Amino acid sequence: MINLKKNPIHIKGVERDKIVKKARKDLEHDGCAIIKNFLTQNAIKLLVQEANGVVNKAHFSYNRTNPYFTQDDPTLNKSDPRRKFYNRSNGFIPADNFRKDGTLRGIHDFLYFDEFIKDCLNEKKFSRYADPLADVIINVANEGNGFPWHFDTNNFTVTLAIQNAVSGGIFQYAPNIRKKNENFDEVSKVLNGKSDKIVSINLKPGDLQLFKGRYSLHRVSPLKGKLNRYVAIFSYVEEPGMVGSPERTKQLYGKVLPIHFDRAGIRNDKFID
Ligand SMILES: [Fe+2]
Repeated sequence: MINLKKNPIHIKGVERDKIVKKARKDLEHDGCAIIKNFLTQNAIKLLVQEANGVVNKAHFSYNRTNPYFTQDDPTLNKSDPRRKFYNRSNGFIPADNFRKDGTLRGIHDFLYFDEFIKDCLNEKKFSRYADPLADVIINVANEGNGFPWHFDTNNFTVTLAIQNAVSGGIFQYAPNIRKKNENFDEVSKVLNGKSDKIVSINLKPGDLQLFKGRYSLHRVSPLKGKLNRYVAIFSYVEEPGMVGSPERTKQLYGKVLPIHFDRAGIRNDKFID
């Protein structure tokens, strides 16, 4: 499934080192690294089939959210980015729909995959997301859908482009915009279309993207055409055992498991969700 000829992630040596070094450099530069043609053409075909087979299990939500997924706070100034709400409408196929012997989990569980990702991210604290609904998911979006500007809950995300929409669906991000503090002024500029810090990239099916979404405000531009846009999302976190908050989990996947309540509130930074 993985194009090991181009990306020999299973053999420690010069070729692998080159890929890791480039990813680290790109991540350091702006929090985003892309490994083009990570998958074989056959894998892309199989992933599209797998996604089509469970797309009816996607949880679509249509609501208005701010970039932090928090409730409105009327005590704040109206121009505060925490009070800027946008239509959000797209779907996630929860992780419990992907079989252990399927293509997607086959890639995720490949013996050398996690270590490769860990090396690229150059993270010492590195664990798989322990969330049974969110460790490996597929994001589904079609015409009219979009994912407005937001920060991720987890510290870094690993995504695999599976199928693009006919047009649109450009990934845009403001690199490390809240690295040291919330930086509300710059966040406001992005929301108001006045930022000069936005980077746009067009991912192709089979491309692997490593992204630090906890610090970089990001969105997917509106989609056009009849084809579903599919992106697989593999999540890793700093501490083992972390899962999503009950509120956020319900919002994204339409259901919550006992583990979400049990482990609520164990994150150790102070950012808004
Ligand atoms: Fe995100």
